[in-house]
Amino acid sequence: MACVIERRIYASPLRGALKRRGLTSGDAYIQPPETYIYVYAIKQKNSRFALNQLIMLLADAVRTSPPPALAPAGLAAQLAHPTGEAGRQIGLRMLRGNAALNQAALRVLDLQPASRVLEIGMGLAGLARAISQAAPAGRYVGADRSALMVAEAARAHATAVARGQMKFVEADAVALPFGVASFERVLTVNTLYFWADPAAQVAEIRRVLAPGGRLVLAWRSEASMRHLPFVAHGFRLYELPPVLTLLGEGGFRIRMADTFAEPAAPELGRNDAFESFIVVAEPVC
Ligand SMILES: C[S@@+](CC[C@H](N)C(=O)[O-])C[C@H]1O[C@@H](n2cnc3c(N)ncnc32)[C@H](O)[C@@H]1O
Repeated sequence: MACVIERRIYASPLRGALKRRGLTSGDAYIQPPETYIYVYAIKQKNSRFALNQLIMLLADAVRTSPPPALAPAGLAAQLAHPTGEAGRQIGLRMLRGNAALNQAALRVLDLQPASRVLEIGMGLAGLARAISQAAPAGRYVGADRSALMVAEAARAHATAVARGQMKFVEADAVALPFGVASFERVLTVNTLYFWADPAAQVAEIRRVLAPGGRLVLAWRSEASMRHLPFVAHGFRLYELPPVLTLLGEGGFRIRMADTFAEPAAPELGRNDAFESFIVVAEPVC
């Protein structure tokens, strides 16, 4: 009898390691708040490999998978718009390394059972499942300009997509393919750096937010980021005050503005400690 152990594997060397032990791997994704990669593998009946050994093997292999060797400019480009195999790896690193900030943003989203939620720049959509569970009569929509992230997120959440609980669309955040007041909640984490026209972006978010809705915006502070070599390649960095001004001028009232400290977590691929900001804002009627 075959035994399904867990979800899926991105690190391709793992597939070979599993096969040599009589195990067949399938597709997978990461599910925060646990920040490890979950693996889906099928243990054939003739495999003598114990489940706990397998899990250790996978955890080790995932932790030790070499990060893609990208120069700062390449890394910046991938963070801004993931593509190809390097983009897939970057997507996974973001999923793990950014999970704590994403979870903190989720905590202030104030989801209601019927909330329609738009996440802009969701990457591999680590929050989609939790949001869907907290808003079972609503809907989660992820919009990202990266076709790769959209395809991977849709694949990871294929069942919820098929049921109409989730949707992933390839779109530029400044021209969202949604009508006025389509969402009660808009969430965006670690995308502010890429807003080409911040005022236009705020206006677009306000357009799709329903009256009484809520925007949650989270990003890492300029002070935390400015020493990182890749930010010289197209990142715009912000401390809190200019963003509060931007939102205020764009017709938002600030409900909450908080800092969030993230210690370094090398095991998650995050070697730096960050100070981040989380802002909750509501459209002024
Ligand atoms: C640094 S990643 C952050 C992913 C995820 N939110 C997280 O916190 O881990 C930025 C994501 O935003 C997307 N993105 C950046 N600019 C965008 C834009 N103008 N429109 C849509 N998506 C955008 C990128 O494709 C990428 O998937």
